[in-house]
Amino acid sequence: MKALVLSGGAGTRLRPITHTSAKQLVPVANKPVLFYGLESIAAAGITEVGIIVGDTVEEIKAAVGDGSRFGIDVTYIHQDQPLGLAHAVLISRDFLGDDDFVMYLGDNFIVGGITDLVREFRTSRPEAQIMLTKVPDPRSFGVAELDGEGRVVRLEEKPEQPRSDLALVGVYLFTPSIHEAVRSIKPSARGELEITHALQWLIDERREVSSTTISGYWKDTGNVVDMLEVNRSVLELLEPVCEGSVADDTEIIGRVHIGEGATVRGSRIVGPAIIGPRTTVENSYIGPSTSIAENCRITDSEIEYSIVLCGSSLDGVGRVESSLIGRDVEITPAPNTPAAHRLVLGDHSKVQISA
Ligand code: DAU
Repeated sequence: MKALVLSGGAGTRLRPITHTSAKQLVPVANKPVLFYGLESIAAAGITEVGIIVGDTVEEIKAAVGDGSRFGIDVTYIHQDQPLGLAHAVLISRDFLGDDDFVMYLGDNFIVGGITDLVREFRTSRPEAQIMLTKVPDPRSFGVAELDGEGRVVRLEEKPEQPRSDLALVGVYLFTPSIHEAVRSIKPSARGELEITHALQWLIDERREVSSTTISGYWKDTGNVVDMLEVNRSVLELLEPVCEGSVADDTEIIGRVHIGEGATVRGSRIVGPAIIGPRTTVENSYIGPSTSIAENCRITDSEIEYSIVLCGSSLDGVGRVESSLIGRDVEITPAPNTPAAHRLVLGDHSKVQISA
């Protein structure tokens, strides 16, 4: 069995982290979301992995390399334009050959991995198997309709009036019959070859498409509230590690991961929290559910339930909560007078200030 991981797509700048052009590299607990997918694939015993890349090929290659650190062997497959998930399957025919495969969308996060799902597929081997999850607003997903016995009868891509609240999760298991399906469909109204349509083609041909419904699922949609929440839930599983230096005048409580070369002095860190490599924390408080990436500097400040990306600094700013701070951001106190806010904010920023 092989895996096809989709990490292509246009290099559109992502909200809310505008400096990241590859949305698959958005960090969750200091690790790109794509890495969790690759680890899940390796844990399911799959080693031959094709990665679809587009505009952001260099960024993805720099992060993943040949895959050896994940215990997988990566083949990069270039897609000139993001012409759809089924198009990605179409251009991967040589790599996939006649093997069964799991297709994994690189911007999806599946809590608990895919090992059980892959085992179930290997045992029952339907022509295709999909994963579903209940979402509050299914209009930006593929949506499945099941019959009374839980069989998939209909799939629609981003319907305006969804027939259920069951969204298609970005992990699909296929036998080689998907190749016939992707060759048989036409581009959708948005100009893409939709995998949803290829699945519907299999259903219409009376091939068996089975489904599993899961609960722990996240996809980056630019929603900060969701991102902080997934960061929190991943930190819940954190193993305490100290690879940096912690001075005696520092108090560490609970599960805290301190990365290589990080320095903590005169501070209090209450886990679960992760401090990235070469980050300095001085005279500060880091509260639960906080991820501070590498090369940051937190001085005379307090931060809790937040994500700080690499190279950023907080210096003497009091308390920061429920915040997402991008790369190379500098946060400093404003001079006392005149009482005015002075802001330099990236595209689509959302800021709450006391008026
Ligand atoms: O995330 C789940 C949803 O993914 C499903 O519910 C939908 O049925 C499915 O169509 C897909 O919807 P999106 O429109 O959200 O997919 P998106 O364009 O975000 O692409 C998903 C991943 O695949 C992303 O990592 C980029 C990559 N991709 C996408 C396209 C269209 C490619 O590598 N090549 C492509 O041509």
